[in-house]
Amino acid sequence: VAVAALAVGALFTWLWTGSDVSTVGTERFGNRLAIPPLAASSVDEDGTRVFDLRMQTGETEFERGRRTPTYGFNGSYLGPTLRAERGERVRVRIRNELGEASSVHWHGMHLPARMDGGPHQSIAPGAAWSPHWTVDQPAATLWYHPHPHGATERHVRKGLAGLFLLDDEKSDELALPKKYGVDDVPVIVQDVRFDGAELDNGRNIFQSVGFLGDRTMVNGTLGPYQEVGDELIRLRLLNASTTRTYAFGFPDGRPFSLIGTDGGLLERPAAMERVQLSPGERAEIVVRMEAGERVVLRSFPQDNYGDAWQRRFSGGEDSFDVLELRAADRLRPSPGLPAALAGPGLSELPDDADAVRGRYFDLKRTGINGRTMDMGRIDETVTRGTTEVWTVRNADGMPHNFHVHDVRFRVVEVNGSAPPPPLRGPKDTVFLPNGTTMKLALRFDGPADRDTPYMYHCHLLYHEDEGMMGQFVVVEKGERAGTPAGHAGGH
Ligand code: C2O
Ligand code: CU
Repeated sequence: VAVAALAVGALFTWLWTGSDVSTVGTERFGNRLAIPPLAASSVDEDGTRVFDLRMQTGETEFERGRRTPTYGFNGSYLGPTLRAERGERVRVRIRNELGEASSVHWHGMHLPARMDGGPHQSIAPGAAWSPHWTVDQPAATLWYHPHPHGATERHVRKGLAGLFLLDDEKSDELALPKKYGVDDVPVIVQDVRFDGAELDNGRNIFQSVGFLGDRTMVNGTLGPYQEVGDELIRLRLLNASTTRTYAFGFPDGRPFSLIGTDGGLLERPAAMERVQLSPGERAEIVVRMEAGERVVLRSFPQDNYGDAWQRRFSGGEDSFDVLELRAADRLRPSPGLPAALAGPGLSELPDDADAVRGRYFDLKRTGINGRTMDMGRIDETVTRGTTEVWTVRNADGMPHNFHVHDVRFRVVEVNGSAPPPPLRGPKDTVFLPNGTTMKLALRFDGPADRDTPYMYHCHLLYHEDEGMMGQFVVVEKGERAGTPAGHAGGH
């Protein structure tokens, strides 16, 4: 009887919180879009590019006259855009002045596990951490955010997120829009809800997907517009929301060119009318503008989201006007998009034909493969230099997604079929609505470290915090997994 009462209570709570989420109409676009500054850097004697990030608390005036307590990097909300070239050695000197432990993870970066910034690289309050690595992957739009086990959702939602752009020789040469903040614009999308002056504390998180806001911001700007002076504008879309999935497009149905996904450029531009991004995913799109026009980037309801219940209670029916693009009366001509984009970038993606082993991941809100995250347990041990096929399945009745640290993977199959264009490029995060099975090809070619795990997890951050995460180590052939640092003798 007690169990039944609990179940009924939970169902009621879920229904109630679900109905609390409203579909949102038109924003007034009264605020110029903030562009995160490019982070200053210096190059030290050995050629390493050095950045400084300070994790801090602050207050942000999202709307005039209302100051909201927030977190940020080198400022009160979000962080500067870091930028580096393939082959460069980089070091980021981080100071944690939050007054609580956190970490900084480089989402999408191929780097040694000790530099990854996951839950094992915790930075104590007042402490510093200076990870360093050599950029060894193609041009891409990556990002950084905290990853403290159990508190990631709160830290990201309070404002700790920023972009990390990578360039390479090929991307430097391509005739793509690349004037940062002018015709190459970062678009960090987050949904928010204000509870008085506070960012909502997440009280509508109970049984379901996690926090869903009732408005969106771009780069921390509510009701944003961007003035456009060129015929072609490139938008680097990042879904930095903690739960919500978006389907971006334009109300007049104009096609745009998808040129890149999470881990870099596509082989060639793909004409699209919509691109769907779940939390953590990125897409680079190029839009053609007419002189004098105003166009709204909108997120549309998502019909592939699962059944009617999922759509309703997980935000799949919602629509948001995200950003207004305002074209000048005269536009600078842009060269046409190159027919071919990423030669080497894409050929570096793993091939499922090379796979030496398969693994299976069943996604449930209560854990992956029936286990909740345990920092002292290594769930999977992979051999350095090998390719694997991972089959990921969601039959959990609610949406999830799946992110793997360190690698750029290839989507081989979605429910038995070839992947659509947005899943043909390099990926590190994929959306799996209920009823989805995906096969991914991954290659593990970083340095082996049997004691320091990388993470794989659902990037709906409330789920991640609740334990929808597992750990893998990369070892030399024949080696066994070690013990995660700080967990000797545990578990
Ligand atoms: Cu964007 Cu494990 O995270
Ligand atoms: Cu999930």
